[in-house]
Amino acid sequence: MISLLQHHTFALPAFATSLIRIEQIDELKQIDWNTPFIILGEGSNTVFVDDFQGQIIQIANKGISVNETDVSYIIEVSAGENWHKFVNYCVEQGMYGLENLALIPGTVGAAPVQNIGAYGVEVKDVITKVSGFDIVTGRQQVLTSEECEFAYRDSIFKHTLLGRFIITSVEFELKKEWLPNLSYGPLKSLQAPTAQQVMDEVIAIRSSKLPDPKIQPNSGSFFKNPIVLKEMAHALLSTYPEMPTYPVSNTHIKLAAGWLIEQANLKGYKIGGVEVSEKQALVLINSDDAVNKDLLAMITHIQKAVLAKFGVALEHEVRLIAKSGETKVEAPTCHK
Ligand code: EPU
Repeated sequence: MISLLQHHTFALPAFATSLIRIEQIDELKQIDWNTPFIILGEGSNTVFVDDFQGQIIQIANKGISVNETDVSYIIEVSAGENWHKFVNYCVEQGMYGLENLALIPGTVGAAPVQNIGAYGVEVKDVITKVSGFDIVTGRQQVLTSEECEFAYRDSIFKHTLLGRFIITSVEFELKKEWLPNLSYGPLKSLQAPTAQQVMDEVIAIRSSKLPDPKIQPNSGSFFKNPIVLKEMAHALLSTYPEMPTYPVSNTHIKLAAGWLIEQANLKGYKIGGVEVSEKQALVLINSDDAVNKDLLAMITHIQKAVLAKFGVALEHEVRLIAKSGETKVEAPTCHK
């Protein structure tokens, strides 16, 4: 048995049968895929809520290669590279487009799985290909961005290819002609910034709102921002005109889960060792040697409170791993 405490940033006490660190992708051919497994990068979006009865496959291959065309940089990055280090490298090398995604924890290989996004940019905007190992065929396979079926915090890797496709590298295209993306409110005040200045501002905003997992164990945004029917959003707006909303389509509107949780009076709320962050209500913190039942009780408590006050179901964005694999705490559907 191996302790997983150091292998997921929420740092609940949990064990797995074994952990295999993959530094060369050929090593994937030696794995016994009949034993239950979980693929892990740096564990910043995965929480082990029980001892996992199986092997943890930690993807730790390294390498970045850059090709240039007249208009773009085409960058192939190994899945095990740290995301923020990669963003920093790009800005240093004069390759721009990822600066809004600075300081997101985790690995490059994890980025497409949940289509990471922040401050007006989603990683799908710059991904051209995702390569990986298909455990069914035992071969390397390449998916185009379209084949990845990217959506808000979602992709094919959470659905059809879950437990089958192991991402080994990601290809990005960064255009040489660069314009800063300042669509997110607090970035709007920057005047003709350089990419470095955008990155510095993103780092400053993130550091002020989001607790550093090394100091206060957490997994970033715990819930997805809920996407609801327009009619429902408008009904809520008539009661709460100050409620933040983001257009999604002609029929749907996205709400801010952090705002809903704060309005349900849960900032700073504690169950055992788990606390709702005072700075950003969408973030749960392991503030005092939390155990799994604290976290599970907190998820249900938040879901029920938000449902009771707003009639909105929250889905956790963080992936929870129990004894036999991934599990979900379903949002209650009615508030009885
Ligand atoms: N808000 C509150 N109270 C709170 C938190 C937020 O009123 O406690 C309000 C804010 O004032 C704002 C709105 O809710 O009007 C949205 O908040 P914020 O801009 O902080 O972003 P978010 O929707 O809470 C999302 C992503 C973050 C990403 C930020 C910035 C999700 C689940 N989360 O958070 O991503 O950094 O936008 O773009 O989509 C992550 O996925 O782990 C993550 C941190």
